Amino acid sequence: MERNVPHDTIIILDFGSQYTQLIARRIREIGVFCEIYPFNTPLIEIKKHAPKGIILSGGPSSVYDKNAPKYSEDLRELLFCPLLGICYGFQLLCVDLGGRVSPSPNREYGHGHLEVIVTNSPLFRGLPNEMDVWLSHGDYVTTLPDGFRPVAQTSGALNAFEDLSRSIFGVQFHPEVAHTPLGINILRNFVINICHANPDWTPAAIIEEQVARIRDKVKDRRVMCALSGGVDSTVAAALVHRAVGSQQFCIFVNTGLLREGEFEEVINIYKHRMNLNVSGVDAESLFLGSLDGVTDPEQKRRIIGHRFIDAFETEASSLGDIDFLVQGTLYPDVIESLSFHGGPSSVIKSHHNVGGLPSDLRFQLIEPLRELFKDEVRAIGRDLDVPEEILRRHPFPGPGLAVRIIGNVTREGIDLLRAADRIIENELRSAGLYDSTWQSFPVLLPISTVGVMGDFRTYEKVIAIRAVTSLDGMTADWARIPHEVLAHISNRLVSEVRGINRVVYDITSKPPGTIEWE
Ligand code: XMP
Repeated sequence: MERNVPHDTIIILDFGSQYTQLIARRIREIGVFCEIYPFNTPLIEIKKHAPKGIILSGGPSSVYDKNAPKYSEDLRELLFCPLLGICYGFQLLCVDLGGRVSPSPNREYGHGHLEVIVTNSPLFRGLPNEMDVWLSHGDYVTTLPDGFRPVAQTSGALNAFEDLSRSIFGVQFHPEVAHTPLGINILRNFVINICHANPDWTPAAIIEEQVARIRDKVKDRRVMCALSGGVDSTVAAALVHRAVGSQQFCIFVNTGLLREGEFEEVINIYKHRMNLNVSGVDAESLFLGSLDGVTDPEQKRRIIGHRFIDAFETEASSLGDIDFLVQGTLYPDVIESLSFHGGPSSVIKSHHNVGGLPSDLRFQLIEPLRELFKDEVRAIGRDLDVPEEILRRHPFPGPGLAVRIIGNVTREGIDLLRAADRIIENELRSAGLYDSTWQSFPVLLPISTVGVMGDFRTYEKVIAIRAVTSLDGMTADWARIPHEVLAHISNRLVSEVRGINRVVYDITSKPPGTIEWE
């Protein structure tokens, strides 16, 4: 990716670890720019970025597996800058440089206690001699290549190594995960003290750089931005607004599938608190009309995608000459298509936002968040004075409540779900759990069950509560909401929402479940 103001860069080569994105996020938290590339990225490509350091990620393979991912060229060619191998990444380095790795007699997995056995290792500078670490390896280093010394160990194995003369470092534990509480200090020692990378990747610098890039690209032409009320599109619009002001035209479509009061509240924020040039498009009957009788989730998504495009095109043509389209694409979407796990995968759900726009719309794209993780987007949003209500909102899917009403989408179903959604949100907020939960919402099930209220038999609908914790929505765990809070929500749902007589709690993580039910 080209940028006008180059930042000192750390490159992470991805060997397939589930933690690779976390390594990048930690390094960015330190304020140093870094990017993830597939393990087989050609040397010439890597050198173009003039990295100050390279990190070889972990991975699920054993270095001796037939299909183990290997660096495509000689790993020694990477030694023009300091190298840190993490777990598999180090084992690969070790074998390549003449050492040995063997299957461990006792697999180290989970919490471990690390003891630093030398006093002056740069990786552990300023850290205590003992610390908790997170381990996840079946192989371990048994013979070090010439020039290396062990610098830290657990009870089961030597777990950190260095060759100071060549600036090569290795750990078999995972400094990037939260279960290694001092891991960020180890990574900081690597990127700042060993690689001498300048920590200039700050929200203010990102904004300044993006604003300059957008101005340079747009000049005096006009830009269009479809807002969803979510963090990404709003921060993208705020950035473009800072860059080109009234040359940006935003639209916010009322699909009829938003939450209670959401359209009015959000458009009010856009207009009056962010001063965006925004028009609200009322397309409720259009959306609901075309969903009538549709029960298949993918068909719902397709129809909603098409309606968005219609609304968008109508608005664009009434605005006249528009050259650019703003999209809130984030870095995880970009690396998904590049990294180890990339490549064709089966369609689980076709996500429809502006991303579903046909290519023949003939707009040039402006994607000012393409290099950012979600937490960075929130941070620059704060710097741009995007209101906290938007920054802290739970993600909400483009197809809205349509994918939370299983089966046919009716106005009654939408009203019922809106009332349930408000109760769940209020209760989580008053229990202080809203911000620590990634998403929490009701799902309306297409079945009725028997209940009893007062002296009467009832035969009414079931609401499932879905609440998850997650870092990025790609994997998630069901939220351990205290029973008392769930009890309170359930009482309120059954007594306040007409048509509901039963509440269930979804205890499926992702995978194997997805966050939304459709
Ligand atoms: P799933 O259900 O695939 O959702 O586990 C992962 C995250 O994506 C959101 N989601 C969507 N977001 N358009 C969106 O903008 C969509 O079509 C869509 N479907 C799911 C979901 O809410 C969760 O945060």
